[in-house]
Amino acid sequence: MGSQSNRLLCCLSLAMLLISVSSAKFSDLFQPYWGADNIVALGEPLKLALDSTSGCGFGSKKKYLFGQASMQIKLVEGDSAGTVTAFYMSSDGPNHNELDFEFLGNLSGEPYLVQTNVYVDGSGNREQRHSLWFDPTIDFHTYSILWNHHHIRFLVDGIPIRVFANKEANGIPYPRDQAMGVYGSVWNADDWATQGGRVKTNWSHAPFVSAFRAFEIDACELPAEAAGAERCEGGGAFWWDAAGMSGLSPHQQRQLRWVRKRHLVYDYCKDTARSSEMPGECLN
Ligand SMILES: *[C@@H]1O[C@H](CO)[C@@H](O)[C@H](O)[C@H]1NC(C)=O
Ligand SMILES: *[C@@H]1O[C@H](CO)[C@@H](O)[C@H](O)[C@H]1NC(C)=O
Repeated sequence: MGSQSNRLLCCLSLAMLLISVSSAKFSDLFQPYWGADNIVALGEPLKLALDSTSGCGFGSKKKYLFGQASMQIKLVEGDSAGTVTAFYMSSDGPNHNELDFEFLGNLSGEPYLVQTNVYVDGSGNREQRHSLWFDPTIDFHTYSILWNHHHIRFLVDGIPIRVFANKEANGIPYPRDQAMGVYGSVWNADDWATQGGRVKTNWSHAPFVSAFRAFEIDACELPAEAAGAERCEGGGAFWWDAAGMSGLSPHQQRQLRWVRKRHLVYDYCKDTARSSEMPGECLN
């Protein structure tokens, strides 16, 4: 008994050392990453502007291997056609991994779409697109990426809109050994973002501003000097890998079914015109 509880205590404090739980000020976690002149307000809410000269973005100071990142975002109001506001996690280099939320703007009064994507070893092409059940330009909403050994969840106000399952057992690549930074940005993508690229950015409506706040990174931090990814394996010591986190709860499964039925607009796994052979992860 005694040694068991000692062991538990030791594991708990080890886990506490490893986890960085941060519901923190912007400047504790992040720094400007590009286009710093277009970051109109550093702080909370943080405001990122796109104009005809540049977009801009911020990135986390640290890198993380498994865990959850969340932020609240209020998207460009009015005419946002051609613009993309992004919240994503990414590692570096040509064979990088990346988990994306991309909010595709639209003409005034027309709905935004949320595109999610997963890159593994430098290759993406795993887009899904959803409409939202609210106007994301009126209020802040919470967007989260949860990444554990079993799956990746994309959440909107806590509701799962997408789950990318780990199917390594079937030979499907899964992001597992590259630590990722957490990023936010606003940029021009009028060659593809709005109505398939037909609607261009109207620069007379610039600047296009999205606001970000309530930054939370609850993830296994990998200090630059630490090579070892094994510290983030955790063996269930981390909440995101604990028993019960291997899949969605029945309630979350119902939510995901509802989202897919009502709000899924595009799924690469159903795009038979695009790929003659379905990507392996699309087959059960
Ligand atoms: C923009 O609005 C049009 C018309 O309502 C819609 O078809 C499209 O899906 C919307 N979103 C984007 C990103 O094009
Ligand atoms: C751009 O916006 C201006 C001002 O609202 C408007 O007069 C113009 O027609 C718009 N341009 C296009 C191509 O829609």
